[in-house]
Amino acid sequence: MSQKNKLYEWIRCCLDGAMKQCTDLKNRVLPTKTVIEFYHGDCVAGMKGLDAKSVDLVVTSPPYNLGIKYSAYKDDQAREQYLGWCDEWGTAIQRVLKDNGSFFLNVGASPSNPMLPHELADLFGRELFRLQNTIHWIKSITLDGDEEEETVSRGHFKPINSERFLNDCHEYIFHFTKNGNTPIDRLAIGVPYADKSNIARWAHTRDEARDRRCRGNTWFIPYKTIRDRNAERPHPATFPHELVENCILLHGKANQITVLDPFLGIGSAAVSAKELGVRRFIGFDVDESYLKVAAERTGATIQKLTASAL
Ligand SMILES: C[S@@+](CC[C@H](N)C(=O)[O-])C[C@H]1O[C@@H](n2cnc3c(N)ncnc32)[C@H](O)[C@@H]1O
Repeated sequence: MSQKNKLYEWIRCCLDGAMKQCTDLKNRVLPTKTVIEFYHGDCVAGMKGLDAKSVDLVVTSPPYNLGIKYSAYKDDQAREQYLGWCDEWGTAIQRVLKDNGSFFLNVGASPSNPMLPHELADLFGRELFRLQNTIHWIKSITLDGDEEEETVSRGHFKPINSERFLNDCHEYIFHFTKNGNTPIDRLAIGVPYADKSNIARWAHTRDEARDRRCRGNTWFIPYKTIRDRNAERPHPATFPHELVENCILLHGKANQITVLDPFLGIGSAAVSAKELGVRRFIGFDVDESYLKVAAERTGATIQKLTASAL
């Protein structure tokens, strides 16, 4: 890595401390092999220090330019300036991604900036990548009951007080690849059929009597209910780690791959990478306080995995 990237001593301590426990306990070496690298600084500069075509999978969520109050980053650039910057980091991702790699980009909109996800999809999909899948991350949903059944609502959303706009209950996850035909392991996140007669009806499940179908491109992943935001989720714009898990599982071969999140925040992607035994994980953030939480959360995950393996 470039010398410009300063790896913080306290991140080392946090992760090394957890690693040490993993090997000390009863002198057994436990399955905690993910090499985790967190870097404090700008991801565009940081990615210059990575080899071309060295990353298998990128899962990330950049600042959306919606005026969100991060503790260091200013989320209110002029539109052209913001899109120019997105082009820079998108180009950097394109360079480090392997030819058969996948880049999952999570982005949401707001009433004041409804075109943002589409502008980014257009920007990246035109020259840098092919848009292979568009996934909707559903944060909250209401299912109307049939006849006697009750209507049920699940998940959480931030209400919009308006006479014009509906509450915003979803975000996008754009799946970009270099050629548009990168294979994915759809059944790794597959679901059972609701109507079991479909197992025999469809040729691709009939032969192996397989009760598993592709989940599709609507992923219902609610935020966990929390009591204390500062203690439990001290960041204004995180994604749930289950979202990252789905992306890693879709790519497959977790223990052989390198995963990158250039906008690490408090490390949700690193937690999933660790949980699924990814070989190498790289994360950048400009905000030292977020990186510190990322290191603590990842360290806690290592300790949890170690304890359950004993
Ligand atoms: C939407 S948040 C990511 C949250 C993350 N997915 C999580 O779950 O914690 C975007 C992050 O990008 C960081 N950021 C902004 N500009 C950056 C840059 N040039 N390089 C690296 N990180 C940056 C911000 O500090 C913020 O934490």
